[in-house]
Amino acid sequence: MNILVTGGAGYIGSHTCVALLEAGHQVTVIDNLCNSNADVLTRVQALTGRSLRFVHGDIRSRDDLARAFAGGIGAVIHFAALKAVGESCAQPLAYFDNNISGTIMLMQAMQAAGVERLVFSSSATVYGQPDHVPVKEDAPLRVTNPYGRTKLVMEDLIRDWCASRPELSAVLLRYFNPVGAHPSGQIGEDPRGIPNNLMPYIAQVASGQRERLHVFGNDYPTPDGTGIRDYLHVMDLADAHVKALDYATTHTGCEAFNLGTGQGHSVLELVRAFEHASGRKIPCTITQRRPGDVAEIWANPARAMQVLGWAAQYDLAAMCADTWRWQRDNPTGYA
Ligand code: NAD
Ligand code: UD1
Repeated sequence: MNILVTGGAGYIGSHTCVALLEAGHQVTVIDNLCNSNADVLTRVQALTGRSLRFVHGDIRSRDDLARAFAGGIGAVIHFAALKAVGESCAQPLAYFDNNISGTIMLMQAMQAAGVERLVFSSSATVYGQPDHVPVKEDAPLRVTNPYGRTKLVMEDLIRDWCASRPELSAVLLRYFNPVGAHPSGQIGEDPRGIPNNLMPYIAQVASGQRERLHVFGNDYPTPDGTGIRDYLHVMDLADAHVKALDYATTHTGCEAFNLGTGQGHSVLELVRAFEHASGRKIPCTITQRRPGDVAEIWANPARAMQVLGWAAQYDLAAMCADTWRWQRDNPTGYA
């Protein structure tokens, strides 16, 4: 099948392109490169020995979407979005426009092209501060920032669209904390500026680009006082998209799935695992809690196992080892 991957030059999209090509699919990527570099697609093709089609364009442009859909598309995997929580608080309208308007334009283009299957990048952010862990898909949905609101609105829009015709199919994938890189060290996460997220920050401390990690609070009600998250290897995430696509091809309706390992790890556990993987010391300073952070959240991923036949395979040691290989071999990312 020819799959249109929006945001396919990004971190998760590029790893998913590798998995799709390896599974025998044809791939068309549409990306405006607002948070990525086209070199990644050269590396994806070199890694897989397969070519893909790249449309340099914006999902909010009808003309760019028409170019992307030309030639026949069987399904869409929709990654393209802005994703920085802090930036979304400062510029909510940019997030509403890019993420929500972009998704509406995409669904219109799908309808015009007669494409009926959609796999969507949602996030554990839709659970906000959960009442219970591990979190199941039927937990209350609530948002704590404009980025999270866009994910929740996009889920609702997709669900409504899907309910409008019985032949439509959508899979909403709620990722917990994606980390890691392709084991080759050829592709990985390439954040612009100071990383917001823990794993890329630690990797830059290990490589000497940043002096020390600031641990955002050690007074949470957790065993070591630091925040607990469900870190998930991006290779497992890529595999989940291939399985979700298979599911969307054989089922109709709209379904949501948690994607996580089902295990939580604290900030200090991640630091220790990274020190072990890299052989480098990660100097840490304890600072204030980051506003908006929850103490602990991890997934109950049982539904993805039961329905999609997916379960995470990589452990924390592999997540750290693969992040380190990418960081060590590409200290300036794709630049
Ligand atoms: P990323 O920024 O690396 O990738 C997103 C890609 O989309 C980038 O290449 C960017 O250039 C492109 N893009 C953005 N707006 C576009 C537009 N209007 N038109 C065309 N291209 C556009 O981010 P990622 O980490 O790979 O995340 C992919 C998706 O997964 C996003 O929807 C994100 O919200 C979601 N998600 C990410 C995480 C995470 O921690 N990385 C967690 C949960 C959910
Ligand atoms: C982030 C996003 C969230 C998204 C999730 C999944 C923010 C504010 N939130 O949250 O919307 O759904 O990723 O990818 O970006 N930490 C430090 N020092 C750092 C960075 C992080 O101590 O320099 C701590 C945090 O307090 C947290 C843990 O590390 O306890 C993980 O943080 P991060 O990687 O940013 O992920 P989330 O907080 O889950």
